[in-house]
Amino acid sequence: VLQSNIFEFAGNNNSGNWEISTIQPIIGDPLPAASFLKIQQAGIANVEKDSVWSLKGFTSNLRYAEKAEKEKLQVLHAELGKTTATLAALIPIRKNDAWWALAQDERRKIFESTSKHTETGLKYLPAIARKLYHCRDIGQPFDFLTWFEYAPAYVNQFEELVFTLRQTEEWKYIDREIDIRLKRSNFFLI
Ligand code: HEM
Repeated sequence: VLQSNIFEFAGNNNSGNWEISTIQPIIGDPLPAASFLKIQQAGIANVEKDSVWSLKGFTSNLRYAEKAEKEKLQVLHAELGKTTATLAALIPIRKNDAWWALAQDERRKIFESTSKHTETGLKYLPAIARKLYHCRDIGQPFDFLTWFEYAPAYVNQFEELVFTLRQTEEWKYIDREIDIRLKRSNFFLI
């Protein structure tokens, strides 16, 4: 069976596997308020009909990680869906035209040599479980949907991590970023 690697993140006011605590625009236009988030495998068409907003992204191969980094990421990797990880963050991000006009090696330089994105992020593994979705190539309002799950004990570490990344050279190329915080919901109706 061929399974879609496209996922739909639907904000709605009825039910969802995650309850939305806050939606904070960090850079650029905001997203409307919603109470719950449903995440599900989808095709290009929306599954959810009653959503306030619906964002889609697909899983893909690595672009920038080099062999040694990839190995460290695999060793420290944390699975999503742990019952102790009751908190989550969905951070949709768009990068500007200047970023996309760069060559791959120039982007890698900014991403890692200058900004140390992976080196910094690795310090927070396996406390933070993460998954990156791409969406630039499917006509979405963002280029990436970034997803993180963690236990309440790691709230401060997560804040420190996002604070650190937002000071980097890489972030100068971000022209839209929304920080959505969530907690596992008791109101999940299919
Ligand atoms: C939890 C620790 C983190 C680790 C270990 C980590 C690691 C990585 C790695 C290795 C990539 C590149 C994948 C590739 O080779 O294509 C990546 C991409 C990305 N990460 Fe992180 N990251 C972390 C946290 C974060 C956070 C907190 C944010 C947002 C606030 C974020 C936003 C992104 C974005 C937007 C990309 C895509 C960049 C691009 O392709 O231009 N990451 N991350």
